[in-house]
Amino acid sequence: MHHSPVSSSLSNGIVDPTLVPCRTLSSGAKMPAIGLGTFGSDHVSHSAVAEAVKYAASIGYRHFDCASVYGNENQIGKVFKDLFQGELRRDKVWITSKLWNDKHGEEAVIASCEKSLADLQIDYLDLYLVHWPFPNHHPSGCDVSARNPHAVSYIHENYMRTWRKMEELVDRGLVRHIGTSNMTIPKMELLLRDARIKPVANEMELHPHFQQPEFFRYLNEKGIQPIGFSPIGSPGRPERDRVPDDTSPTEDPGIRQIAQRLGVHPAVVCIKWAVQRGQVPIPFSANPRNILSNLVGVTNEPLTQQEMDAIEKLDRNCRLIKGQVFLWRDNQSWEDLWDVNGVITPP
Ligand SMILES: NC(=O)c1ccc[n+]([C@@H]2O[C@H](COP(=O)([O-])OP(=O)(O)OC[C@H]3O[C@@H](n4cnc5c(N)ncnc54)[C@H](OP(=O)(O)O)[C@@H]3O)[C@@H](O)[C@H]2O)c1
Repeated sequence: MHHSPVSSSLSNGIVDPTLVPCRTLSSGAKMPAIGLGTFGSDHVSHSAVAEAVKYAASIGYRHFDCASVYGNENQIGKVFKDLFQGELRRDKVWITSKLWNDKHGEEAVIASCEKSLADLQIDYLDLYLVHWPFPNHHPSGCDVSARNPHAVSYIHENYMRTWRKMEELVDRGLVRHIGTSNMTIPKMELLLRDARIKPVANEMELHPHFQQPEFFRYLNEKGIQPIGFSPIGSPGRPERDRVPDDTSPTEDPGIRQIAQRLGVHPAVVCIKWAVQRGQVPIPFSANPRNILSNLVGVTNEPLTQQEMDAIEKLDRNCRLIKGQVFLWRDNQSWEDLWDVNGVITPP
């Protein structure tokens, strides 16, 4: 049977937000099971991203994944201001932001969060993430060979200095929850050992060609919600994040076959799979039609169990966002950022 994207969840091109599934976090709070990404990948303008947020909110999105490093929080803030001065209540929307790598340590965490709040024109965040476990940063739009001369390996004591300030943000009521991003099991073990306030979520790359089954299971066991970035395989990612061996989940014949059955773009199959598996995908799009079809996809006919099982077998362990620009030594390979042997890579 052929299904058009127009379903019972859709009336006048708007999805009823109460029909969008939610995830209950360890705190009991409910996070909408799909969010809109806001990284323009260095080529979509800040104003176009803000327009996407505005449109997405108007058709039923209630979760936005922001970050100071995306450079567009002040434009998105204008949209939020208008929304919350209108009909929409702030507590009906989930807003995440992230601490950039150059703000780790004791000095800058609180000020950086306050800057994001001011830019976004809100008085609290639902979730604040440490964007990367490394304090290493790079200029936006840089090339894959760019290295920060002060880059260092993961130093747990330093990460905990940052984390203590993240905890203080919760104590002060500036953020409801704190979490991590781009972590690994051994790093998470140390954080869970030492945290006073545990992370409620970890944001990580997740799509049919990079399912991270072991880490995914681990997070679920620990009650940490996985948030999946690049859920479509980030077809618009910056040049620095492309190598010839990369594969594309939307070109996978297994995904395309399911897309054909449902009469949707393969991207929508990736989003449906993500929500049904239990992660929270945060697809980016600047195209109204795609923004809408991704949301509709999580409210209408689900994938069958056979389709879910078939997609599980498509995993290629193909990490697309490798993070080369965060490496700290010459002659390293990007795998060193990800503790692939189960041990934190030493300095
Ligand atoms: N924590 C981190 O370190 C981290 C890292 C990377 C990303 N993120 C977050 O995750 C978000 C999403 O990741 P991403 O932007 O890398 O990749 P993505 O969401 O996998 O892919 C976005 C691309 O997919 C296309 N697309 C979206 N929906 C589509 C549809 N229904 N049909 C056809 N094409 C579609 C978009 O093009 P159109 O605009 O033409 O629709 C856009 O080029 C980011 O925006 C950011 O918020 C976080």
